[in-house]
Amino acid sequence: MLDSARELTVDLGERTYPIIIGQGLLGSYDLTPFVQGNQVMIVTNETVAPLYLESAKACFPGKNVDVAVLPDGEKYKDWQTLNQIFDHLLEQRHSRKTTLVALGGGVVGDMTGFAAASYQRGVPFIQIPTTLLSQVDSSVGGKTGINHPLGKNMIGAFHQPEVVLIDTESLRTLPPREVSAGLAEVIKYGLIRDTEFLGWLEKEVTALVDLETTALVEAIYRSCACKADVVALDEREGGLRAILNLGHTFGHAMETFAGYGNWLHGEAVGTGMMMAADLSLRQGMISEQDRARAIRLIAQASLPGRAPEGMTPDDFHRLMAVDKKNVDGALRLVLLRALGDAVVTDEVDVVKLDETLRTFCVVSGDVHA
Ligand code: NAD
Ligand code: GLY
Repeated sequence: MLDSARELTVDLGERTYPIIIGQGLLGSYDLTPFVQGNQVMIVTNETVAPLYLESAKACFPGKNVDVAVLPDGEKYKDWQTLNQIFDHLLEQRHSRKTTLVALGGGVVGDMTGFAAASYQRGVPFIQIPTTLLSQVDSSVGGKTGINHPLGKNMIGAFHQPEVVLIDTESLRTLPPREVSAGLAEVIKYGLIRDTEFLGWLEKEVTALVDLETTALVEAIYRSCACKADVVALDEREGGLRAILNLGHTFGHAMETFAGYGNWLHGEAVGTGMMMAADLSLRQGMISEQDRARAIRLIAQASLPGRAPEGMTPDDFHRLMAVDKKNVDGALRLVLLRALGDAVVTDEVDVVKLDETLRTFCVVSGDVHA
């Protein structure tokens, strides 16, 4: 166990909150200072509950803790499952003073946050993320919501948590594929805003794949610091925050094509970032070496190097047309002006975009750096 937890702040005026990162915090860290009333509802899923529910409950000594256990999977990030949270809250007579607690990955976190944003017009919530992806990304910044059959995360609200508690020990039970998916979002921060971190990641990627604690805490801390910084500057995504979506436009299209849950969000983002680097090169924004560096690092995290089987450039065009970043029907993408410097642009050269799409919609084999 590390000596002490590390702490960061998401600086948002009256909505400011801490992110607490450490090893072995679940079960020992007292979260009651972040709870206003006596009622707490932990929302988790059937996979995470047997692993961490009891230790999560121990973070709320003296409180009345109820539990809602949801089915596990991206395909359940929908109205029906969201409604199960409201059913539990109403059946257990939770008042406006209740606090919801999201215990799980990004799916549980996004749904619990949305439930908190709308239950009795808004109640507080706490994030206890248990996947690498949720620890470095989805638990921070207040984006909450559910999917619609026609598009990912299309229904939701901004609602900031009271605190984010990150226990790196919970990653020990995570399947390796989920670790790689989380690493995609870690690498994202290096690519969009922090070349020094990118260089560090190139040295430490194997340690991270192997879940070495010191490297993990550092990667999570630096990722959360980057996200907290961007969110503090642009909470509601008026501009800058959109750079956090590097690779996501391509990625959401791949996730939707494959069917929610068949490709992991982070896997799709990893491949999508390769595509963004490829298009950035074709548009004359970065060098061949930069493209190769980005693709190599993403591949070292064991992320896929091509689009889902059977997906065509036309599928991409159709699915990317519903992206939330688009304005008045014009496609907007996050591209790289340089490594460590992302930009949101609607200056997308359609011929070059098609070249990128064709490169990644190959029949078989990965795209090599
Ligand atoms: P997930 O929530 O589906 O979790 C992945 C799998 O790991 C699930 O089966 C889950 O039950 C299991 N799991 C969770 N913790 C575990 C643990 N410690 N040990 C073993 N198994 C564990 O997926 P995710 O990658 O965490 O999150 C993806 C979701 O997050 C997507 O819906 C995506 O849209 C969303 N997201 C939101 C934001 C945001 O800003 N709100 C940002 C990025 C992603
Ligand atoms: N994951 C993108 C964002 O939080 O804005």
